[in-house]
Amino acid sequence: MKAIKKFSNDALKQGGITSVWLFSRLQVVIADPILAEVVLKNCLEKDDLLDILKIFTGGGSIFAPVKIWRSRRRKIVRVFNVRNLKEFVKIIGRQSDVMVNQLRSLTSSGSISIVKYLKKASLCTVYDLVEKNPTVVDILMKPNYAGMLSDVELCEEILVMIFAGTETMSIALSLVCVMLSKYPDEQEQVYQEIKEVFGDTNKQPTTVDLQRLKYLEAVIKETLRLYPPGPIIMRKTDKDIILPSGIKLVKGCGVVISAWGIHRNPDYWGSDVEKFRPDRFLDKPPTHPASYLPFSYGPRNCVGQQYSLLSMKTTLSTLLRYYRILPEGARVSESQNAVKDEQQLRVKYNVILNHVDNYVVELVAR
Ligand code: HEM
Repeated sequence: MKAIKKFSNDALKQGGITSVWLFSRLQVVIADPILAEVVLKNCLEKDDLLDILKIFTGGGSIFAPVKIWRSRRRKIVRVFNVRNLKEFVKIIGRQSDVMVNQLRSLTSSGSISIVKYLKKASLCTVYDLVEKNPTVVDILMKPNYAGMLSDVELCEEILVMIFAGTETMSIALSLVCVMLSKYPDEQEQVYQEIKEVFGDTNKQPTTVDLQRLKYLEAVIKETLRLYPPGPIIMRKTDKDIILPSGIKLVKGCGVVISAWGIHRNPDYWGSDVEKFRPDRFLDKPPTHPASYLPFSYGPRNCVGQQYSLLSMKTTLSTLLRYYRILPEGARVSESQNAVKDEQQLRVKYNVILNHVDNYVVELVAR
């Protein structure tokens, strides 16, 4: 992560662009949304450095060359249409209830690493989606202009959903929990909003309920601004590209779009970029569409973006209805504020971003 922070800062200091050697490849690093937009709209090939990840997903769309990716993307996008998302929210709601019940026995055990419970819930949800919900497999199996997926290709795309959807999701959820544990006022505001929407009932959320959870959404977005699970997005130019600044990226050039850097670009986010301030998404959301890209941007962005936001809102609103999240060690210290730590989270990078301190929090039943 040290390297990512360093080259992102270098790019920010040099007008949003720099270069760095990553392994044996010289990569152009971008931390400016105007430049990122051009690259992410025009360069759809993944960089060769990502080839190693194909051991997990084979020819699956996420790391596939453009000629394979294009037809598969069209199929996957249809999985996440509005009608299906409504159905998926019911499945996520059921799994969130299961998780909340499992956590009950842990409220007296002091500190827990919340990530493993959220990982289990995310994995069970994706499993229910792809294995128990005939819609997903039906859509993937429907022939389109490029023909039908073979059995192997179908398995590859299901693996992609499991690979792309569980790790990122559980990390994002765990990061939100850690942030809420450190920011009790923001957590209280989220709780009050949840109470307004659900009252004292234990009903499962619908998409209409979730739309009303605006402050929770701002908290999620602000967490993903500061800690995007995919802090860098890697592409390769398949033709010469001239950037608006006049710089030419030659064909075959590796490009690292630093979401970490772009999310900290003061020209777009102001002078308090390091501050956790969810209200920034309510007061004055960012003006450039590529200034916020935890789900990437352009034709090859995350297909699971809408699903992820609905899923995170479902899981967190269920969790927070029943538990207050405290920072590690809060119950042995004199007051909760005594352990409130305004410092940045310690994070590391291993293909995705991770919390060095293992997402440890304490749960108290409400
Ligand atoms: C918080 C959760 C998530 C985050 C932060 C996230 C982030 C990302 C990012 C940054 C990319 C793009 C990489 C690039 O531009 O090169 C991506 C691609 C992708 N994501 Fe997500 N993702 C999340 C959840 C999900 C879920 C839940 C699913 C599906 C169930 C999913 C499916 C995919 C797929 C299939 C791609 C490849 C898209 C393509 O190449 O066309 N993601 N994701």
